[in-house]
Amino acid sequence: MHTPLPAPERATDICVVGAGYVGLTAAACFAALGHRVRCVEHDERRLSQLLRGETPIYEPGLDVLLHDGMQAGRLSFTSMIEDAVPGAEVAFLCVGTPPRADGHPDLRQLAAAAGEVAAAATGDLVVAVKSTVPPGTCEAMQLLSDDAAGPGVRISVASNPEFLRESQAVGDFFHPDRVVVGADDEATGSTLASLYPSEWPMLRCDRRSSELIKYASNTFLALKISFANEIAGLCEHVGAEAVSVLAGVGMDQRIGSSFLAHGPGFGGSCLTKDVSGLVATADALGCTTPVARAALDVNAWARGRVVDKLTTLLGPLAGKRIAVLGLAFKPGTDDVRDSPAVTIVERLLAEGAEVSTFDPVAKPEPLRHLQQPDAYRAASGADALVIATAWPELALLDPARLGAAMSGCVVMDTVGVLDPGAAAIAGLEVILPGRSTVDTFHPVMVPPLEWALDAALA
Ligand SMILES: NC(=O)c1ccc[n+]([C@@H]2O[C@H](COP(=O)([O-])OP(=O)(O)OC[C@H]3O[C@@H](n4cnc5c(N)ncnc54)[C@H](O)[C@@H]3O)[C@@H](O)[C@H]2O)c1
Repeated sequence: MHTPLPAPERATDICVVGAGYVGLTAAACFAALGHRVRCVEHDERRLSQLLRGETPIYEPGLDVLLHDGMQAGRLSFTSMIEDAVPGAEVAFLCVGTPPRADGHPDLRQLAAAAGEVAAAATGDLVVAVKSTVPPGTCEAMQLLSDDAAGPGVRISVASNPEFLRESQAVGDFFHPDRVVVGADDEATGSTLASLYPSEWPMLRCDRRSSELIKYASNTFLALKISFANEIAGLCEHVGAEAVSVLAGVGMDQRIGSSFLAHGPGFGGSCLTKDVSGLVATADALGCTTPVARAALDVNAWARGRVVDKLTTLLGPLAGKRIAVLGLAFKPGTDDVRDSPAVTIVERLLAEGAEVSTFDPVAKPEPLRHLQQPDAYRAASGADALVIATAWPELALLDPARLGAAMSGCVVMDTVGVLDPGAAAIAGLEVILPGRSTVDTFHPVMVPPLEWALDAALA
C-alpha cells in the first residue's frame, strides 16, 4: 500500500534546467508532489530518451515517477528554454559544475543557464540554484540575470542546494534530512519554501550560508571516510580489525556509523570536487583548511595503496592479468565520475597490467574494450582479482568458480563483500583492507612491557 505523498501549499509552474541526476530527480519528484514541471535538457541523446519516457540515468524508482508525471501531463521535456521559462514562477538551475584543475568549480554551464533563463523570462521569476557552488555564486548569478533580463522583468536568485545520494535519490527527495533555502529577501525565500511540503524539515538562511552548508556537509562526509581509511591503515600495523574498530567507534551516537567506512576511498561527482572547491575558496581568501586538505590527501593514499599492495604481493605488474570487479563509484548507480575503481584500472594499465573488468550496471565508454559480460569471464586467467565496488551481486559470487577461472589466487576485496571463509576454502587468498596478520607484540608495545616487567621484578 502506498503512503500518500505530503502536499505542498499549492501547485506551481516550475522550470528545471538540466536533466542529470539532480535535475531529473527534482523534476520528476516535484511533478509527483503535484507541481507542473517543464524540464530543459540540451543534450540531444538525453532529451530523445526522455521524450520517449526513458530515463537516461540509472536511478532506482525514477522511471516510474517519470512515466507517471508524463502520463498525468505534469512533466514535460524540451530543448527550448523559451518553451519552458515563460509562465514558470520558479526556475531551478541543475547544471553541472565540474572541477577545474585548480580545485575551483567550472561555473560556465551555470552562468550560461542563468543568462538563458533570465533572457527567456517574461515575468518575475525566482531562480533557484541547485547546483553545488562556492559562496557568493548566487550573487554573481543575480548580477548576470539582471543584465540578461528584459525590461520590467525581475529575477530573484536564491540558493537551494541538493543533498541527494545517487542510488537513493528519489527516497532522499521525499524524506530529506533538511531542505535548505537561502535567500536574501523574505518573499523569494517564501516562494521557494512553498514548493516543499510544510512538514519537511527546513532551514532558511542567507544565500552565502546556504551555499556553504553544501560544501561543508560534503567535506565532513569526505572527512569521515578518510578518517576511517586512516584508522584502517593503523589497524593493519597494530593487528586490529578495522571492521570492528570502526563499528565500535560508529556506535557512539555523537559520531554515528554512516560514512565511517574504509575501502578504496571516496569518489563520485561530488565529494572530491566539493572538498577541493571548499579548499580553493578558502585559499583564495587567505584562510587555511588543513582538515579538509587532509581528507583529500588520505583519499589519494587510499586509492593508491590498492595497486601498491598488489605490487607487493605479485611483483611488477607489467604483463600480469588483473580483473577488476565493479566500476561505479558506489553500488546502485551507473556513475563512474571520479570513481576509485576507475582510478585503480587506469593505474593498473599505466603499470602495464592486462586488465579485464565487469560491473553489473556501469558500462563506461572509454573502458568498453576491457569489459566482460560477467564476473567469471572477467576473472578468467587472472593472476589477481580486485573487488572495487560493493555491489550486492558481487557478494553472491561463487568463490569456487572464481578460483577455477583465475590462474592466480590473490583477491583484493577492497570493499569487503566476499565471505572470507568460503573464499579460503576455495583456495583464494583474500586481502582485506584494515586487516593484518600481525599477531605478535609490535615494537610500540615492547618498551612499555619491558618497563612494566622491570617495575614488577624490581
Ligand atoms: N550527482 C549528485 O549526486 C549530486 C548531488 C548533489 C548535488 N549535485 C550537484 O548538482 C549539479 C548537477 O549535478 P548532476 O550530477 O545532475 O550533473 P549532470 O552532469 O548529470 O547533469 C547536468 C545536466 O545539465 C544539462 N545542461 C547543462 N547546461 C544546460 C543548459 N544550459 N540547458 C539545458 N541543459 C543543460 C547537461 O546536458 C546535463 O544533462 C552539480 O553542481 C553537482 O555538483 C550533484
